[in-house]
Amino acid sequence: MQTRVGWFAVVAMLVALACCGGDASTRLDDDDPAAAAREAELRALLGLPDRAELPYIPFGNPPSAAKIELGRRLFYERRLSGNGTQACADCHLQALAFSDGKALPVGSTGETLTRNSQGLANVAYAASLTWASDGLLTLEQQIHIPLTNDNPVELGLTDGVRDSVLASLGEDPSYAQAFASAFSDGAVTLERVIFALATFCRTMVSRGSAYDRYLAGDASALTSEQKLGADLFFGERFECFHCHNGSLFTGSYRDARDEEPRLSFFNNGLYNVGGDGSYPRYDQGLYDLTGNPEHRGLFRPPSLRNVALTAPYMHDGTIATLRGVVEHYVAGGRLVADGPYAGDGRASPLKSGLVRPFDASPAEIDAVVAFLDALTDLEFVSDSRFAAPE
Ligand code: HEC
Ligand code: HEC
Repeated sequence: MQTRVGWFAVVAMLVALACCGGDASTRLDDDDPAAAAREAELRALLGLPDRAELPYIPFGNPPSAAKIELGRRLFYERRLSGNGTQACADCHLQALAFSDGKALPVGSTGETLTRNSQGLANVAYAASLTWASDGLLTLEQQIHIPLTNDNPVELGLTDGVRDSVLASLGEDPSYAQAFASAFSDGAVTLERVIFALATFCRTMVSRGSAYDRYLAGDASALTSEQKLGADLFFGERFECFHCHNGSLFTGSYRDARDEEPRLSFFNNGLYNVGGDGSYPRYDQGLYDLTGNPEHRGLFRPPSLRNVALTAPYMHDGTIATLRGVVEHYVAGGRLVADGPYAGDGRASPLKSGLVRPFDASPAEIDAVVAFLDALTDLEFVSDSRFAAPE
């Protein structure tokens, strides 16, 4: 028999996950003698490399091997879309660090989305999810959206088709068995689908780049050009590290030792429609959620790990190459010369003070691009743990 998860239950689940940020049963406490053993067990389950911190795991969805394996299967499962045509993996491709290579993706019913598909490497550590939200603080909260939203449609598991899709998965004996292994019984519910997917995404940890080998003591892992690029990236002329810092090159960060998520949003001068700092009306970033006019154009700084694989760039995919991105910062913002979104982002009143024009030679720009290339982890994009199950 199917357990139907209605909207009420889903909302209750999201509220429960949102409210339990400080729960000690999943947050690590260094004074707790059982913590080391628990950490070791969780690290082994998630397959964490030694250098990686334990991510924050919300109360109520502890990982298990069976849940990870089920989540992997569901990630590649096209039957999870309303019309059977699309899986998570169609917009999140492993070879591209789980981005899709397009400026803007198209959902299962043919609607073009307004935002660029994000890479998912190290998504377990993001303090907030998506390009600009201060309300989606866990993978469990976020994954609900691509599954069920209808404006725009992604997978299109909308109210009308949800029950029949979940029921048909439950009628597949191998899924019933997989759900029974991952949860207490074989019932296929939306909440369980989300929990399994979130657990799988939490295992997508990437720390095997040339830069990591360099940090671990192998001075030859970076070329001299890449070392120059690192110096510039972490220097006060280029200023990159102010917003792209820490082990993931983003200030938006949370691991198991953090009491609270460290939220981070900036306006980096991509637009200045009409000269008042506005972004195109269909996507003004955090402002669309908060309604605070100061929040126009605020977006989360993306992690830069594997960024060489996730072109094109920015929330709307409007910068084609990494060189173009670095040139954007050298110019102190972007001039959109004509068209409906015309405006000089360099003069935006809402732009962060950290984005201002500076002098840089072509060789220095190349060096920063070469450094960003050194953040690519080729083991991650070929690791069979993340590939489609046979
Ligand atoms: C039609 C393409 C598409 C499909 C299908 C899709 N996604 Fe996404 N995904 C996106 C886009 C676009 C974003 C950025 C959304 C935003 O900023 O509003 C995103 C963001 C995410 C994020 C947040 C990443 C971050 O860094 O904050 C996660 C996690 C994610 N998707 C997982 C999934 C899972 C799991 C599925 C399957 C249930 C899925 N996606 C299906 C396009 C897609
Ligand atoms: C004021 C904070 C800030 C500074 C300084 C900054 N960035 Fe960013 N960066 C951001 C934000 C925010 C975004 C996303 C903006 C958007 O999509 O609208 C971003 C996007 C990017 C992207 C695109 C990533 C992707 O997945 O699309 C790259 C690459 C990047 N920055 C590199 C750099 C480099 C290199 C520097 C230094 C020259 C730098 N950033 C300086 C905040 C900053």
